Amino acid sequence: MPSGSEARGVKIRGGVRLEGGVPIQGAKNAALPLLAASLLIPEPVIFENVPSVRDVAVMVEVLTHLGARIAWDRAARRMEVDASSLQHFEAPQDAVRKMRASIYVLAPLLARFGEARVGYPGGCAFGPRPIDFHLRGLERLGASVDVAFGEIHARIRRFQGNHFAFDRKSVGATIQVVMAAVLAEGTTVLDNVALEPEVATTLEFLNAAGARIEGIGTDRLVIHGVKTLQSPGKWTVIPDRIEAGTWLIAGAATGGEVTVSPMPKAFLPTVLEKLAEAGVDIRETAEGLNVHGASPQHLRPIRVVTEPFPGFPTDLQPQITVLLARVPGSSRIRDTIYPTRFHHAEELRRLGARIEVEDGTAWIEGVPRLTGAEVEGRDLRATAALVIAGLVAEGETVVRGFEHLVRGYEDFVGKLRALGAEVELLF
Ligand code: EPU
Repeated sequence: MPSGSEARGVKIRGGVRLEGGVPIQGAKNAALPLLAASLLIPEPVIFENVPSVRDVAVMVEVLTHLGARIAWDRAARRMEVDASSLQHFEAPQDAVRKMRASIYVLAPLLARFGEARVGYPGGCAFGPRPIDFHLRGLERLGASVDVAFGEIHARIRRFQGNHFAFDRKSVGATIQVVMAAVLAEGTTVLDNVALEPEVATTLEFLNAAGARIEGIGTDRLVIHGVKTLQSPGKWTVIPDRIEAGTWLIAGAATGGEVTVSPMPKAFLPTVLEKLAEAGVDIRETAEGLNVHGASPQHLRPIRVVTEPFPGFPTDLQPQITVLLARVPGSSRIRDTIYPTRFHHAEELRRLGARIEVEDGTAWIEGVPRLTGAEVEGRDLRATAALVIAGLVAEGETVVRGFEHLVRGYEDFVGKLRALGAEVELLF
């Protein structure tokens, strides 16, 4: 397990400027669908740059339960998945409760067995997260889907190509329906698909395995079904843009200097644009991206709207809220993806921030200082944001909810310390 994975909280001494380089992990939100997609391939696949985070460990549990053989060398970041031995079409009962992304096994199980049983996900810490597009998309390709006793039970003889348009862009549903379409009989056309780099890399992986997906990177995919997939051998997980964004914002918020690498600029277009608009000095270097923060007191207020890629990611909304909490003037953040994802605002008020939330929008009046207190994160990104708040608050801040943080950030505390932060784990 990554260091500190059993900790329940951290105590942070505020007022330290973060300085140094951060090696960026493989993307959690790419690793999860890639692992699920490997169930479609009845041969061993090797993944490189796999992040050592709790959610990946949960996906490994799910796949192992289904009968896949997995060898994970955490130190080498390498994982071999052999799904030739798949035996069950029933995901373990509590899998989806532990992690919503477990739902990704639905289409692969249907394709392999003609039947699948997966728990129906409940609400999550930042509001309702429906799966109607996943189910409607699979139905459109011929599956019959029944929801009863808290479980999704789906059946299919073989997926049939069809046309399906998503009502709005969805990372998970796009990947789910594509996983069904690659082995369907005939051609499938999907409109209004998600464009996130994590989606693109999963589709490219499927193509490397013999799928015929056209239009990757555009709103419309045309997928010609094939009979079987073969192992592409090795596949490298792309770097985690949300982790990189978190460290860049932490650097800016502490008025420090942080370089994240590797990280292509193209993965964070709107984030870089918005930071620059606020007056943060951010540039691309030979190694990656570098932020050279002026103190937030010298930055300008901005308006941020979260949107599907290439827009500003909702997964960096809590973190930028913390940065703007100390920027003089009025900033505004609207989350169009998860309008109720603002629990952190209440916690930030305990630290002295002036934030009001109404109808999916946070109105922020910058204050000159935050002061330490005890706060609690209720999800992964909010907890990371509260740690950043602790870094800039005067005195000591205790952030509880650390168990959420290890779901998606590898060695968060180790990396913080390497940047000069004074952090103590609480158990
Ligand atoms: N939506 C529906 N119906 C559906 C699916 C989605 O209405 O069937 C709505 C959602 O409620 C949301 C929007 O569509 O308003 C987009 O949701 P999306 O399906 O794209 O989200 P997801 O696939 O469930 C992934 C990430 C999340 C990230 C969102 C948005 C993974 C494993 N999770 O979730 O990551 O917030 O995309 O970018 O990829 C995180 O890493 O902390 C995290 C929560």
